Amino acid sequence: MCGIVGYIGKREATPILLEGLKRLEYRGYDSAGVAVLQNEKIEYKKRTGRVAELSRAALNNGLSGTLGICHTRWATHGGVTEENAHPHLSNDGKIALVHNGVIENYLSIKKFLTSKGITFYSETDTEVFVNLIAYHYEKEAESPNRFKESVRRSLKHIEGTYGIAAICRDCPDEMVGARKGSPLIVGVGENEYLIASDVSALVSRTSNVVYLNDGELVSIKNGELSLVDYEEKTLKPEIHQVDWDTSEGELGDFEHFMLKEIFEQSEAIQNAMRGRFSDDESSAKFGGLNLSAQELRQIDRILFCACGTAWHACLVGEYLIERYARIPVEVEYASEFRYRNAPLDKNTLVIVISQSGETIDTLAALKEAKRKGYRTLAINNSVGSTIARESDGGIYQHAGPEVGVASTKAFTSQLMILSMMAVYFGRLRDLSFQEGLECVKGLKRVPELVENAVQQNDAIYKIAEKYKDMTDCLFLGRQDMFPIALEGALKLKEISYIHAEGYPAAEMKHGPIALISKDCPVIVLATQPDIFGKLISNIQEVKARGAPVIAVTCESHPLPEGLADDEIVIPDCHRAALPILASIPMQLLSYHIAKLRGCDVDKPRNLAKSVTVE
Ligand code: M6R
Repeated sequence: MCGIVGYIGKREATPILLEGLKRLEYRGYDSAGVAVLQNEKIEYKKRTGRVAELSRAALNNGLSGTLGICHTRWATHGGVTEENAHPHLSNDGKIALVHNGVIENYLSIKKFLTSKGITFYSETDTEVFVNLIAYHYEKEAESPNRFKESVRRSLKHIEGTYGIAAICRDCPDEMVGARKGSPLIVGVGENEYLIASDVSALVSRTSNVVYLNDGELVSIKNGELSLVDYEEKTLKPEIHQVDWDTSEGELGDFEHFMLKEIFEQSEAIQNAMRGRFSDDESSAKFGGLNLSAQELRQIDRILFCACGTAWHACLVGEYLIERYARIPVEVEYASEFRYRNAPLDKNTLVIVISQSGETIDTLAALKEAKRKGYRTLAINNSVGSTIARESDGGIYQHAGPEVGVASTKAFTSQLMILSMMAVYFGRLRDLSFQEGLECVKGLKRVPELVENAVQQNDAIYKIAEKYKDMTDCLFLGRQDMFPIALEGALKLKEISYIHAEGYPAAEMKHGPIALISKDCPVIVLATQPDIFGKLISNIQEVKARGAPVIAVTCESHPLPEGLADDEIVIPDCHRAALPILASIPMQLLSYHIAKLRGCDVDKPRNLAKSVTVE
């Protein structure tokens, strides 16, 4: 959470910083600020609200200089005010800092600094941090690398997580950055360098990047980049090339990124499949697992860990892998796994799923699994992300940047990878050649079917108009449609603020049925031919209690006339692809309801795209 950008070079920093910041706005958007070294003084502007507000203020007031830092905030310590917005300046005005993360021991440091006469204008941990740097800066007066050394010394006292960029009034040719637990990347341009939380902020200026690891400190001074650890050991910066089409992050003709990304799903799924089926078309293959077929055959349990939508993908993965590969699967919230001493068998494979590859709980779960000696894999959409780099092996989604806070194309692309993984693991065991062939054939049709499913956009809009004022909504599904019900409820609540719950359809009778009334519409995923009769019974139970029913059905299995108030029909597809197809109407319905209610679809309140604090 929070996005940071820093610039040092020969150009005007402010427009470059603000352009980068705009691309990081998905990381937090309650306030923003920029600081630039101008006429030997650190000048700054801060605004509550969006980056656009800040841009107006900063560009109109002519913040000018070739060294600067900026930040878009997702509040942790202190409310949404200009005082609490970053950058934070030290008492003496010498140092400015932007920070993504949480300083856990800030109170004791604050007490120490207060005893030294330092006063504070904000409620943030970051203001404490910058004053600690300023404190060491005074103590390091004799050091040839005074600024860098003051940051390094401060970091040794800091507990918690951070990705930082800092500038100093006395050092017009120097910018310093460091990371522990929060991502930080350096962009290496021609006669210029940038520091950012995410490559998306850099790619319009350079495709050469250095990914910092935890415990590393970077200093860019007089045009030279140097990398050290906190013990001052010099490290060799490794420059990676990022292949990123900047137009992918643009809205184009769409009103919102969420809608654009819903419509991009066919292509995203195609990208997830590309080159990943075996030559005989009966299985899948993945290049980056770093596990031999023999090693994979020895796996006798899989543990999935993730958060939010990615956790729902894991639940679908559980059904798929158990069905096709017959390997026992467990799914754990990453945030729970990291603080639980779960006994795992030595042949357990731990798989984490994360669109951003930076979610702190998922990263911590991955590290915990590695610490315990388990083989780990990551399914991830962000090349070079921390999770991708920390896992033993992995599968990139190649879904393209997902900007809307509500995950859509990343989710269905994860589902495709999980279906392929289920077939691959199955074929290494007991799944027959014929069954494998049918699965692959079915999965290959998915992009075309998804293309058809999104064409129902107008029809779903009409349903959204009818239900937009509801205050509660229940989503019901059975088997692998249960996680899709959970995901449907999450989509609706996160962008439209309507209270929504997902339940296994039969479980409704054990409590949630008490909520059912004419004012609580129920969305039923009635898509599976093998349990169609049971699903019809569940719909009858809901109807008998007066609730409106929106049913999602497959082409070949429509509901009896008049049973549902509204019916959304998805194309028939292979069983392994059903969760993907059933997700599309859930996404479109939430999108239209949120839009009709006047909600900020791409930047829902209180949320951020990448959750990098605990
Ligand atoms: O980047 P990740 O996949 O690790 O993110 C996990 C969740 O934060 C994310 O899926 C979140 O639940 C989305 N807002 C859902 O739309």
